[in-house]
This record gives sequence, structure tokens and C-alpha cells, in this order.
Amino acid sequence: MKKRKTDRGRPDHYAKKAKKDNYPARSIYKLEEIQKKFKVIRPKDRVLDLGCAPGSWLKYAAGIAGPGGSVVGLDIKDIGSGYPDNVSFYQCDILEMDAAVREAIGGGYNVVLSDMAPSTTGIRSVDAARSFVLCEAALEIAGEVLAPGGHFVAKIFQGDDFEAFVAAVKQQYKTRKIFKPQSCRKDSKEIYVIGMGKKQKGNG
Ligand SMILES: C[S@@+](CC[C@H](N)C(=O)[O-])C[C@H]1O[C@@H](n2cnc3c(N)ncnc32)[C@H](O)[C@@H]1O
Repeated sequence: MKKRKTDRGRPDHYAKKAKKDNYPARSIYKLEEIQKKFKVIRPKDRVLDLGCAPGSWLKYAAGIAGPGGSVVGLDIKDIGSGYPDNVSFYQCDILEMDAAVREAIGGGYNVVLSDMAPSTTGIRSVDAARSFVLCEAALEIAGEVLAPGGHFVAKIFQGDDFEAFVAAVKQQYKTRKIFKPQSCRKDSKEIYVIGMGKKQKGNG
């Protein structure tokens, strides 16, 4: 199998802009594009951010949710300090989340975001399969913690399982959208699947 060449590591327009705007990662602009188009987060929302490190989405979502809302982030990696008061963070592997973390994060969320990405090998089929596993876990967590009517956003690397994931989102949400932000790197197979309006359980 052939490894692909990438332009990673070079600070592009979005990476430079993130530094200037005081965000730790260029990925902020992907969520900003999603938010501008779909308005997934509203003031006072309770937001769960899966795979939140290094913390750009956390900061951005916390700003929209505002002091009346809250954002909870989870990641294997630590995110350091300096976040707004309405942000809390738990360091854990989402694929092996223990009961204590499950209990700590609680429920009743309005939005579940997942920008989780696996460690990549450069082999598209392997990376896509790993991404699908993370997306399935995110969808399952959203199924448990998201309130009816809530919204779900997940990044997936397109591969053989992409259509199955889109179908699963469609089954659980009133509307599903597929969106590739302009700020995604050109060589990336990543895309966002958005489920809007979580259906009541048993109302599929
Ligand atoms: C692209 S980064 C997220 C960037 C983030 N949205 C931001 O704006 O700063 C993907 C993250 O997913 C996390 N991740 C991958 N697999 C995970 C897992 N099993 N459990 C928790 N976090 C995971 C990685 O540690 C990484 O920090």
C-alpha cells in the first residue's frame, strides 16, 4: 500500500490566523464554518466536546454558550489551563471511558461535538477504519447524553464505512448534513457528519 504525501507541518493561512486569534489549533475555523452554516450551538447550551485537545473548539464553544451555558471536554491528552470558567475537562480514552467519567460528565446536553482523530498511519483505509471506530463511539455517547432535539457533529475520515455511519446518524436525527469546511486541508479525507434534532428514543 502506498503512503500519501501531505502538506502537514507547514503553517498555512488558517494556522497563522489561529495563532493571531489566540487559538491553539487551526481546527477552530472548521467549527466556526459549521456554526455559521448550521447554528448548532446557542447561548446557554450545554456542550460536550469529544477529542477536545488542544482546546480550540472548547474555547470557541464556551464563547458561544456563554456564562449561562457550559462546555465539557474529553481527550486522552491534557489541555493545560487558561480556559473560561464555564469549561471543564476530563482526561480519558473515550473508547475505554470508565463509570466515574460517565457519571462526572452527566447528561442533558444540547450539543455533542466530536473532532476526534486517530493516530494516522498514512494508509487511507486503515486511518478511515480507525476514524469510524471513534465516530461510532461518539454516536453512542451522544445517544446516551444528548437531550431530544439536540445536535451532533462528528468528523470522519471517508472510507468504506462512511455510508454506514451517515445512515446511523440519519436514523437517530431528524436531519443529517454532510459538510466539508473550506478550512479542511486540501489533502485531507476528513468530512463532518451533522445530525440535527435528536429523535426521541423509540421514535425512529
Ligand atoms: C484534531 S484533534 C482535536 C482538535 C480540537 N477540536 C481543537 O480544536 O483543539 C483530535 C483529538 O482527538 C483525540 N483523540 C483521539 N482518539 C481519542 C480517544 N480514543 N479518546 C479521547 N481522545 C481521543 C486526540 O488526542 C486529539 O487531541
